[in-house]
Amino acid sequence: RAFGYSQVPQFDPFLMLDDFHTSNPDEYLAGFPWHPHRGIETITYVLEGLVEHGDSMGNAGVIGAGDVQWMTAGSGIIHQEMPKGDSQGRMYGLQLWANLPQSQKMMAPRYREVKNADIPHIVQPDGVVIRIISGRLNGISGPVRDVVIDPEYLDVEMPADTRLYHPTPPGHTAFIYLFKGRVRVDDLDLQPGSLALFEDGDQVHIQAQASSARFLFISGKPLQEPVAWRGPIVMNTQDELRIAFSEYQNGTFLKS
Ligand code: FE2
Repeated sequence: RAFGYSQVPQFDPFLMLDDFHTSNPDEYLAGFPWHPHRGIETITYVLEGLVEHGDSMGNAGVIGAGDVQWMTAGSGIIHQEMPKGDSQGRMYGLQLWANLPQSQKMMAPRYREVKNADIPHIVQPDGVVIRIISGRLNGISGPVRDVVIDPEYLDVEMPADTRLYHPTPPGHTAFIYLFKGRVRVDDLDLQPGSLALFEDGDQVHIQAQASSARFLFISGKPLQEPVAWRGPIVMNTQDELRIAFSEYQNGTFLKS
């Protein structure tokens, strides 16, 4: 877990980032059997291996390397996520949770699956490659649109000794999560598995070190609302949490 419950509200509007990265199937085959979500969006990005999924809206399928599943739980969804690994048993995925504002916590759930081939990328003159999953860069928009927190979700690969200057909307929360190579941000040297949360500003500057590097760049508009979070459900008040869990127990959780 790169960040989570104990960091609220530092990453607002984001709640959690999990990195599941292993070549031991015993560590992932149990998966995440049927469980509910309400009040959030979960964004799963698979780098290696496969994740089988199914949900209460009738979606079912497999997401593989380079694919993204962007699920808006809204008023409620019940789903399962079962990592399967690749032919060598490797599994590598990242799951981000984004919060929904009070006005949209009970919106109808929706589900977007984006295949690797449908994710546009740009190549800069120095060889930096940016895959745009959500957000807009050089006039190119990522396939995940109409999200309340106006997120950018970019997968950036930098050759050795290159630099990236990336504009950020002032007031938005922005961070990178490095999963390959080393980069320098201000006076910090980051290693794989580390995260840098940027201060407010209008541009970030990232410098790749002696080898190529790959990371996620993520930004979003803070909600600045109270957070009541228990397990897979995130609302604004304890009362709303109690209602959600009692509805789950008595079978009235799903609204659409
Ligand atoms: Fe889930």
